[in-house]
Amino acid sequence: MADESVAVWAQLSGLKGDDLRDWRMSSIKTEVSNSDRNLDTLPLPFGWFMVAYSDELELGQVLPIHYFGQELVLWRGNDGKPRVIDAYCKHLGAHMGYGGRVNGNALECPFHAWEYNGSGAVTHVPYAKKIPPSAARECKIQWPVSEVNKQILVWYHPFGEAPKWEPDSFDQVHDPDWTDYDKYEWIVHGPVQNMAENGVDAAHFKYIHGTANFPDYDFEFDGHRRSASVDAKMPTPKGEVDGTIAYGTVGAGQSWTKFSGISETLMIAGITPIDQGRTHIRFAFTQPKSEAEGPMANLAKAMKREICRQLDQDKVVWDRQKYKPKPSICDGDGPILPFRKFFAQFYAEWEDGGKNITKLKIDKKTG
Ligand code: FES
Ligand SMILES: [Fe+2]
Repeated sequence: MADESVAVWAQLSGLKGDDLRDWRMSSIKTEVSNSDRNLDTLPLPFGWFMVAYSDELELGQVLPIHYFGQELVLWRGNDGKPRVIDAYCKHLGAHMGYGGRVNGNALECPFHAWEYNGSGAVTHVPYAKKIPPSAARECKIQWPVSEVNKQILVWYHPFGEAPKWEPDSFDQVHDPDWTDYDKYEWIVHGPVQNMAENGVDAAHFKYIHGTANFPDYDFEFDGHRRSASVDAKMPTPKGEVDGTIAYGTVGAGQSWTKFSGISETLMIAGITPIDQGRTHIRFAFTQPKSEAEGPMANLAKAMKREICRQLDQDKVVWDRQKYKPKPSICDGDGPILPFRKFFAQFYAEWEDGGKNITKLKIDKKTG
């Protein structure tokens, strides 16, 4: 398909190198509020969400992070384990992500050196004989942490419920015959649900990504998992080539895509709500070294470029898209409504999978 037939591409033309990286991470300028776009009607989904790569957190390092609309602090104890708690100290409210330090496995607040364990309980006050009971208690909302695939994920649940599943892990990430991660990231002004919906939106592939046909997917919804596979023609510098794409999502925050046929590629994505209006997307690619570094290197690179280019194209829409609780759907669309029913299971605030929405006044919004 020629460039001029996909209008969104014009908005991206000329963006390269640092300009493209800046565009991917910058906020859009808009007069339209989250509420005008119905973004305030969708809760944050619960589940495992990536908050950092493992190599961004050294032994004894402290990092401030902002996800799920909250200030959090992440640290790696001397036992190597990452931990996350609320960033504000129970004592006088210092932000422990700035100036806090690791003592053994505990986090020490910069203001008066109170020490915290990974459950948010104060374990030591260096100048007091007794720790106030309210400070010594574990926090009601816990932030369980899992380090898999060289990524640090936290479990978010608005009511503090314990993890209901484990994130998937992939052997390729640790296989010396596969490349180190090649990493890309975006901030999208939109909810996780819009991004997840993209995978079942069969018609958009042709109109926004320029594929020759609608892909013919086999979809599967299974508990907290969703998967699909498709035989697809992939655009490469040497024209379209037959390949297979398989993807899976694990909860709302973890997803993976495997490409085979032309250049084997595993992409592990972390999709994490920053707040109700914004989402941080990270793509981490690994490929067999024999393909990524050999005579097929250009093809291997082109695969990654094409996947990121598709995300750029989607971002142009997602950044301004309005959430339509009652969309008009036609027969050629993919399984968008079954997808929404599936995704509603991750909204703890919605009772009965969204059939009786008690806390969010979604029915008052026009579709
Ligand atoms: S504010 Fe944290 S120890 Fe005082
Ligand atoms: Fe897309």
